[in-house]
Amino acid sequence: MRLHALFIGLAWLAAAPAEAQVTPAYLDETIPVEERIEDVLNRMTTEEKVAIIHAQSKFSSAGVPRLGLPEIWTTDGPHGIRPEVFWDQWDQAGWTNDSCVAFPALTCLAATWNPEMARLYGKSIGEEARYRKKDVILGPGVNIYRTPLNGRNFEYMGEDPYLAARMVVPYIRGVQENGVATCVKHFALNNHEVNRHNTNVVVDDRALYEIYLPAFKAAVQEGGTWAIMGAYNLYKGQHACHNKYLLNDILKKEWGFDGVVISDWGGTHHTMEAIQNGLDLEFGTWTNGLAGGAKKAYDNYHLALPYLRLIREGKVGTDELNDKARRVLRLMFRTTLNPHRPLGSMLSEAHYDAARRIAEEGIVLLQNKGGLLPIDLSRVKKIAVIGENAIKMMTVGGGSSSLKVQHECTPLDGIRRRVADSVEVVFARGYVGDVSGEYNGVTTGQDLRDDRTPDVLRDEAVRTATQADYVIFFGGLNKSAGQDCEDADRAGLSLPYGQDSLIAALAKANKNLIVVNVSGNAVAMPWADDVPAIMQVWFLGSEAGNAIAAVLTGDVPPSGKLPFTFPAKLEDVAAHSLNAYTGERKRGIVDIEYKESIFVGYRWADKHTDKEPLFPFGHGLSYTTFDYGKPRVDAKSMFPDGKVTVSVRVKNTGKRTGQETVQLYVSDKKASLPRPVKELKGFQKVTLAPGEEKEVSFIVTREALSFFDDRKHAWVAEPGTFEALIGASATDIRGRVAFTLKTDD
Ligand code: BGC
Repeated sequence: MRLHALFIGLAWLAAAPAEAQVTPAYLDETIPVEERIEDVLNRMTTEEKVAIIHAQSKFSSAGVPRLGLPEIWTTDGPHGIRPEVFWDQWDQAGWTNDSCVAFPALTCLAATWNPEMARLYGKSIGEEARYRKKDVILGPGVNIYRTPLNGRNFEYMGEDPYLAARMVVPYIRGVQENGVATCVKHFALNNHEVNRHNTNVVVDDRALYEIYLPAFKAAVQEGGTWAIMGAYNLYKGQHACHNKYLLNDILKKEWGFDGVVISDWGGTHHTMEAIQNGLDLEFGTWTNGLAGGAKKAYDNYHLALPYLRLIREGKVGTDELNDKARRVLRLMFRTTLNPHRPLGSMLSEAHYDAARRIAEEGIVLLQNKGGLLPIDLSRVKKIAVIGENAIKMMTVGGGSSSLKVQHECTPLDGIRRRVADSVEVVFARGYVGDVSGEYNGVTTGQDLRDDRTPDVLRDEAVRTATQADYVIFFGGLNKSAGQDCEDADRAGLSLPYGQDSLIAALAKANKNLIVVNVSGNAVAMPWADDVPAIMQVWFLGSEAGNAIAAVLTGDVPPSGKLPFTFPAKLEDVAAHSLNAYTGERKRGIVDIEYKESIFVGYRWADKHTDKEPLFPFGHGLSYTTFDYGKPRVDAKSMFPDGKVTVSVRVKNTGKRTGQETVQLYVSDKKASLPRPVKELKGFQKVTLAPGEEKEVSFIVTREALSFFDDRKHAWVAEPGTFEALIGASATDIRGRVAFTLKTDD
């Protein structure tokens, strides 16, 4: 008996220290994360490792239930948190608590030219994601604007790598502070939608490194993004989601990316390439449900049973598997396993406020002849609002970025709310475009059907216009297929639905015509000479109408600048001029050669001065005017490791407060390889009261002078003369100053 008691006592004593050690090392916060990752990895079976590197549903991947590691939940991205969909269907699941705040499209964010707005955007959408229990936001997108026909340009940040890089970094930081990862997309060379799965991009290294990669590189090295999404297209004959050159050589080796490469949904095509060429987490691959004989359809993914089989048969080792699993675990430690991440918030006043501020700052006043804008409400009795886009909700549609919003203020609502009872606002439809208002089961609830003929609609619009003091036409594109929408490109540069002739008729009917273009792309404006005021307003999200009304009436001064060139004609765009784009749907691999190389957007326009853009890159007016002083440098020359400071004084010479984005371009006067006439290397947005003057300074380092020398596979700054150009747009250069880069010795 006593012996038995002693035995129990001893057994207890022996168990006690063991129990004290029960907390596994991977949960011990005092241990460095990389060691904790190794600890989990050592505890996992091969099957468990395989289980965490592919999807388990449309938007989630498995955790390790046995070890308590949670699932990872992703969401689109990039303009708001996507509604919940069924486990294995695109259709919305019909939840009633998944409405979101829609933030403006990323083209609008880029048009703010304000990194603080990008930070606010990231913080706000990150909070929404966190509250909705999402761990990865599928965005932002930074594919370069190569052709105005690309149906997804509205999800990206324009044509310039420097601008996109400066804007993407704070967005990422803002999101990730919430313990939510960004998944920057689509890496890389996804610059049009037609044939997106079978386009093989043929591009030289200079264009790759100087134009198409810098925003991604900044996202990785400065933003510290925890995930990257592979693109649908091919490069060097391999799909980008399992592409040795892009993922292994550049992203992981050259840039040291330690995060997770996630495939675009359905972008994985080849098991061995997926194993070997840098893909870490496979999502969205089509399966034929249960008919494949596997227990779960997702078991048929390339990085599921087929991978496991190859391992079991000894045809591949486990080095790659460990690397992939390690990266996914790292993502977990950064997100789901971070006990300190904030709680997030959703549908807050602060988020609506952020959405409105970003929208206001991104609106671009393209033209304002005779100072028609802002509208002085004290002198107006009647405003005619015309056009479908004044009443159409724009947050539903466009593809994967489509949202289910708690509320969306349309332009007509915003104007009515702003002018209240002081001014009569009348509306005429003008044209009928897209009345569907549905995406994956989310409906706007609007009934936009109108069976009247185009003539009847036009006559009514013209009659309405004749009787008003001001006419505001809302047109443009609308996120339906072919009109700024995923998986389709636009058929041409022109506005659809007969808008051009309608606008021309309105211009004849009333000289106080304002055209407001809603789009994520440049459009042709054959009527531009006859319309005094033109405004570019993008897809602005929940607060669209309020933001537009604030700018139209001058409550907020317009301060956006174009993040891409508006060409006068499609043929003025490099890709089209060189016949280096195909709009035709084709089978088989379609090689698209980026024949223009580095000469994209204004870099092309600068070389072809006979083809003046309709509105240049960086253009945007204010309700006031700014005078630029003469730019100065603090030193006439710099050593390669040194710097030169370029300064310029800018003064508000008008009667209203305004914001100006001062742009710095650098021009290399002589180089051993062709270089653009100039390239954007700095910008700063300043607010100036009437009469106020501020000095704006830019620090120029070797990086701003460098080009990618493909002969050496290195960035090179060649000694010699450079010029700093200070401008209000790419064609409105207000001053220039030269300096030299010395040699090393
Ligand atoms: C798009 C991605 C998106 C994904 C998930 C794909 O079709 O290309 O941008 O994140 O679907 O919806």
